[in-house]
Amino acid sequence: MTADKSGLYRDPSRQLAALLAGEPDPIANAANTVALIYHTLPDLNWAGFYFCDGPELVLGPFQGKPACARIAIGKGVCGTAAARAATVLVPDVHDFSGHITCDPDSRSELAVPLVEAGRVLGVLDLDSPLRARFDEVDQAGCERLVAQFLEHHRQYPSCRLWRNSGDQK
Ligand code: SME
Repeated sequence: MTADKSGLYRDPSRQLAALLAGEPDPIANAANTVALIYHTLPDLNWAGFYFCDGPELVLGPFQGKPACARIAIGKGVCGTAAARAATVLVPDVHDFSGHITCDPDSRSELAVPLVEAGRVLGVLDLDSPLRARFDEVDQAGCERLVAQFLEHHRQYPSCRLWRNSGDQK
């Protein structure tokens, strides 16, 4: 079961490499990354990036309904992932105290921080209308996609992605 499901992430990883190849702009790359995730993984109603902007996360490219533009670091699922510099997997958002409702249809959520050299640069956030949609296979798969996204940009040292950080401003 688990082995089969991890295959779900093999194609996105290959397609992501092709989509990112040669492109230094992190916003264009973030837009294509979430479009790929949203249209490849089943049962999502939202997929997007938030990027650190001082003490807040600010909305980046996404697919799905309009969402909150800013989330304080430490608040909600995304802000918690950023504050902990660790993935937060929420089987049922109704059980997560402080969950920020952007779309009332969202029932489960997975927030993966973008961590580079110990600095949190942002969060990749996925929402599903299904309870317990995400498990450890999704967590590992999305963490690998985030790692691939960061690794791609390392070849561009002046990329503005490296200037986004919760520890600046
Ligand atoms: N639910 C998130 C807010 C972002 S949206 O789901 C797009 C949270 O609690 O941080």
